[in-house]
Amino acid sequence: MTMTIRFHQYGAPDVLVPEDEQVGLPGTGQVRLRQEAIGVNFIDTAFRQGIFPMPLPGVTGVEGAGMVEAVGTGVDGIRVGDRMAYFLAPGSYAEVRLVNAADLIRTPDDLSSAEVATVLTKGLTAWAGLNGFYHLKAGETVLVQGASSNVGLLLSRWAKTRGAVVIGTAGSEAKRAALQGAVDHALLSDSDHLAEQVRELVPNGADVVYEFVGKATFAASLAAVRDGGTIVTIGAASGAPVVDQAILTSRHVRMVGGPMAQHLQGKVMQASSDVFNAYREGIFGEFSATAYPLANAAVAHADIASRRKSGPMILVP
Ligand SMILES: NC(=O)c1ccc[n+]([C@@H]2O[C@H](COP(=O)([O-])OP(=O)(O)OC[C@H]3O[C@@H](n4cnc5c(N)ncnc54)[C@H](OP(=O)(O)O)[C@@H]3O)[C@@H](O)[C@H]2O)c1
Repeated sequence: MTMTIRFHQYGAPDVLVPEDEQVGLPGTGQVRLRQEAIGVNFIDTAFRQGIFPMPLPGVTGVEGAGMVEAVGTGVDGIRVGDRMAYFLAPGSYAEVRLVNAADLIRTPDDLSSAEVATVLTKGLTAWAGLNGFYHLKAGETVLVQGASSNVGLLLSRWAKTRGAVVIGTAGSEAKRAALQGAVDHALLSDSDHLAEQVRELVPNGADVVYEFVGKATFAASLAAVRDGGTIVTIGAASGAPVVDQAILTSRHVRMVGGPMAQHLQGKVMQASSDVFNAYREGIFGEFSATAYPLANAAVAHADIASRRKSGPMILVP
């Protein structure tokens, strides 16, 4: 028997309960993966709450890394004992799971499963933000709403190394202070004067705004972006924003968004290699995860909901 974290109803973190599971043999095109680390992402909390409905009982989580212990028919190039990882395969909160071989990438020899589960999904989302949703150029001014989020932080640091001027926001004074070294200017996301503060720094407005917060910050984002600029809505942690299409049109502001996976098609190898290299080179700064026992997944979700903590989290079986 192995442990799987299930929820039988949508709701608060305590709907996540550990259960015994007998994972069978992998089917055609699948492998059975014994997981060593499971990445925790904000979207996991949306599945748990039914914001993105899934059949119940459900298993949340999209990311993990571990060792292959059985290989199904029709799988080429993967053997028992290989170290593999994935970034968008729902059902990851489990000690052992079946996963489609097509969703797997190889864990580099020099990185642990914990490191890969910490950085892969978040890094790939940041990669898509800079190379897919929008192609960031040196010298551009960027506003990152929610630079204190994990993806927002990686994107901010990466944007700076690409020669952009980065203004990042966070929801508390402590998180704003923690951003100081990572961005050029750190501001409070819930300030009533956020747009004016951005305009003091860049009078014409930001070339591009990356939104991770949504409803709570969108009005400031719109006021802070330059005419003809772009708003990239990657996340909406505070809820979906109300968007006045007429204002966007009159100011020629382009708005793009959607799943990051759309920008990775045919590029996963290149993008993941870029992410691992950025991690190795220290572009992401100190980016190590707080580890929770898998059985305590509900505690990790409660910590996300409270917004008291920052930094990445992994679950360890
Ligand atoms: N489009 C895609 O494919 C894709 C992929 C990955 C992630 N995302 C999205 O990107 C966002 C960041 O993901 P992550 O994993 O990096 O999340 P995370 O580290 O858990 O950060 C969550 C962020 O949301 C903010 N937040 C949460 N609740 C809020 C509220 N009620 N009001 C204002 N701000 C609130 C937090 O602000 P503080 O730091 O100030 O507390 C923090 O910046 C999420 O919305 C996620 O769903 C989208």
